Amino acid sequence: MATDKRLEDRVAVVTGSGSGIGRGSAIVLARAGARVIVNDVDPDGGAETVDLIREAGGEATFIAADVGRSDQVKSLVAQAEDSYGRLDIMYANAGITNYVDLEEMAESDLERMLDTNLKGFLFCAKHAIPAMKRAGGGSIVFCSSVLSTIGFPQCVVYSATKAAMIGAARTLAVEVGKHNIRVNVVSPGTINTPMLARDMADMNVDEAENYLQNVRNANALGRIGEPEDIGNAVAWLSSEEAGYITGINLFVDGAFTAVKQI
Ligand SMILES: NC(=O)c1ccc[n+]([C@@H]2O[C@H](COP(=O)([O-])OP(=O)(O)OC[C@H]3O[C@@H](n4cnc5c(N)ncnc54)[C@H](O)[C@@H]3O)[C@@H](O)[C@H]2O)c1
Repeated sequence: MATDKRLEDRVAVVTGSGSGIGRGSAIVLARAGARVIVNDVDPDGGAETVDLIREAGGEATFIAADVGRSDQVKSLVAQAEDSYGRLDIMYANAGITNYVDLEEMAESDLERMLDTNLKGFLFCAKHAIPAMKRAGGGSIVFCSSVLSTIGFPQCVVYSATKAAMIGAARTLAVEVGKHNIRVNVVSPGTINTPMLARDMADMNVDEAENYLQNVRNANALGRIGEPEDIGNAVAWLSSEEAGYITGINLFVDGAFTAVKQI
């Protein structure tokens, strides 16, 4: 499967890779030669991703874990090391959305979002670091969003969790740089995934097409992103080519955040 050798012999964990951006990224990393631990809470989606990678000649294993549970993430990292002997890349991708005004948001939903989107990336980094020290270094990438930076109604808690990644990555980059561990963020614009489809579930066909056209018009490249667009950024950030890059937030959004909107 490997079409280039940038990540040959590297071992990568991709959380939430049973779907969407995580799946596309797991496939890109495997194509670059990495052995990939596919993680998700959804075993069926995880198994499908593993099949896609193996059918293309790549190496992948599924491990179920909820990223919001420290003990499960610790076990995920331990199993990755047991399976492949090391851990080099942690792509903390898993995340959830919930469009609701803050004042209406049920506290249980708020807690769930904090568990998955905030504690999740922190647990992934926390438990990856000791393994990466043992491996002599590594690359940690957090999946944020343009909504870390741009105001969007009904996304207050989501936005807070995604903005937290940017501050955490800068500080963590400083903390672990001496161990040859780099920490970066990717901030996707609108990407064609099941999450996008769910977010549009309440729209009729015309409303959905109108929304998608507005998204296309709102970025400089006139198209919606694909999961592989994010995977390519994660693979590059995790390769030697980005060996002097740490603490950055890379927008992968077709310049959505730069386009003048009116
Ligand atoms: N799709 C977009 O337009 C877009 C834009 C910006 C950022 N993002 C971010 O990209 C990431 C992936 O989004 P996507 O669009 O691929 O979504 P998706 O819903 O298609 O996939 C997310 C996957 O994460 C898994 N997951 C959810 N909670 C989990 C948990 N606690 N532990 C482990 N796995 C869990 C789900 O089962 C699912 O397979 C998210 O962090 C999201 O916030 C997406």
